[in-house]
Amino acid sequence: MNEFKGRVAVVTGGASGIGRAMAERFAEEGMRIVIADVEEEALKRAEAEMKADGAEVLAVRCDVSKAHDVKQLAEITVRKFDGVHILCNNAGVGITGATWEIPLEDWEWVLGVNLWGVIYGIHYFVPHMLKHGGPCHIVNTASMAGLTSGGSMAPYHVSKHGVVTLSEGLFHEFRQRGSHVGVSVLCPGWVDTKINESDRNRPTGKVADDKMDAVAKMFRDMVGTALKEGLRPKDVAQMVFDAVKNDQFYILPHAHWKNMIETRMQDIIGQREPSIVLPPVN
Ligand SMILES: NC(=O)c1ccc[n+]([C@@H]2O[C@H](COP(=O)([O-])OP(=O)(O)OC[C@H]3O[C@@H](n4cnc5c(N)ncnc54)[C@H](O)[C@@H]3O)[C@@H](O)[C@H]2O)c1
Repeated sequence: MNEFKGRVAVVTGGASGIGRAMAERFAEEGMRIVIADVEEEALKRAEAEMKADGAEVLAVRCDVSKAHDVKQLAEITVRKFDGVHILCNNAGVGITGATWEIPLEDWEWVLGVNLWGVIYGIHYFVPHMLKHGGPCHIVNTASMAGLTSGGSMAPYHVSKHGVVTLSEGLFHEFRQRGSHVGVSVLCPGWVDTKINESDRNRPTGKVADDKMDAVAKMFRDMVGTALKEGLRPKDVAQMVFDAVKNDQFYILPHAHWKNMIETRMQDIIGQREPSIVLPPVN
């Protein structure tokens, strides 16, 4: 995409972290912005602050794990702005724990937000993009966790691997049809956001410390420390903007993590046991 001014960008999970930063970056280009989020107070705050900075922004309360909410988000966007040009399927949550101990409700929650949220976004927004026929772009937020595997975060890894392959498939489908819709998949390592406090939006409430085994707890604390050393959301948002502009598919903000992907691929090709490669702190 080359022209941004006056065009419309929708960002899910737009009230915080990477989503908020992407919304602000697109607003800097003069785009009209829809931020969608399940956390109402943070959403209202983000809307007010972005408006104060001169952005044209509409905030829509939306739980991306609910088909009905995402359908409504698409309808509200098109009614208000007459179309959509950039869709960032970005809302995401994480939970730590041993695979067999994580409550099934939490599996459903994480897969519902991280994977079904992206599926619903594609299902309800792409027809509008195809209809207006102008240049469009979809950015799906996956993670390095979608390109690698590790313990204590199975629902997150499963959902993010799903988002990567979903995005790759979508890319092929648009190319095969000579379509004007570009696709990118964002796969960051640590970024300094509130992702480690995802349970603030957990349907069954915050996770009690005594409900976690020692390994999962240690892992969660380690992630919390690493996130604080991570990239700034606004730097990731700049990379996303550049990728949309240059029609770049894979966005890997943490170039020095690439050996983790390579090691996994070598293990697969060599039919070896999966190696343990710990991510760097930043
Ligand atoms: N922070 C990192 O290190 C990192 C790394 C890789 C990928 N990611 C991914 O980046 C994306 C953004 O997360 P972040 O790091 O900015 O965290 P964040 O917690 O700061 O922002 C996530 C946003 O998603 C919203 N959200 C949660 N559940 C929702 C739902 N059901 N419907 C709509 N919105 C919902 C939250 O309210 C929040 O505003 C996520 O998909 C996450 O998995 C983050």
